[in-house]
Amino acid sequence: MSIVCKSASEIDKMRRSGHIVRQVLEATREAVAPGVSTMDLERVAERKIRDLGAKPAFKGYYDYPCVLCTSVNDEIVHGIPSARRMLKAGDIVSIDCGVVLDGYYGDSAITVPVGDTITPELQKLLEVTRESLFRGIEAARVGNTIGDVGAAVQQLVEANGFSVVREFVGHGIGTRLHEDPQIPNYGTPGHGPKLRDGMVLAIEPMVNVGGPGTRVLDDKWTAVTEDGSYSAHFEHCIAVTRNGPVILTE
Ligand code: MF3
Ligand code: CO
Repeated sequence: MSIVCKSASEIDKMRRSGHIVRQVLEATREAVAPGVSTMDLERVAERKIRDLGAKPAFKGYYDYPCVLCTSVNDEIVHGIPSARRMLKAGDIVSIDCGVVLDGYYGDSAITVPVGDTITPELQKLLEVTRESLFRGIEAARVGNTIGDVGAAVQQLVEANGFSVVREFVGHGIGTRLHEDPQIPNYGTPGHGPKLRDGMVLAIEPMVNVGGPGTRVLDDKWTAVTEDGSYSAHFEHCIAVTRNGPVILTE
């Protein structure tokens, strides 16, 4: 395993790609409504990426066909946009997007409600998953370890009665979408690689209402919960610096 630390000017470039990802996610979020298909979201995102002068990071990555992953309800990650998948009121949809600009990658995800009302349990799922991401970010400090990040995420999630997915993890990011190290959303404080100044990490908790089990559909991409329970996903890229974690995807 080799973890590549980034210089201040490289981190600057990653802030630019991160900022584009943010704008793409915001434009896509605004398009979410009952009756809209996940392919409609894909079109909004693709247009926005090109308008902002970046290239999609996911399309063509291991033959993945789209610029977004759109994962609805019990879908955890890697849902493929489809014109036949209509969003309906009360659904939740996770929107995951990556771009590359000037050789540097950005990657971020949000989960949003469809329509005006989702159940209180789903509301809580979204809040806890988002908050667990920020707990993980807070733990991403020089001298801490990858295990501290995972433990911070896991602790909040499990304290709220939900479970963290084990089979998919966060990752280093830079001149490639996926770099070392892997960043599990569970862990033991003090274990794993030590965090150093200049590391850039994509932290991405995937949280299930029910059990942690997962299964991949016949399309070979879409990961769903084994028990059919709902799942949420939030992701930011952050730089580990001497002044603490800096979010690059906002
Ligand atoms: N954010 C996800 C990840 O980091 C999405 C990757 S989708 C893929 O793995 F198509 F690019 F594989
Ligand atoms: Co990612």
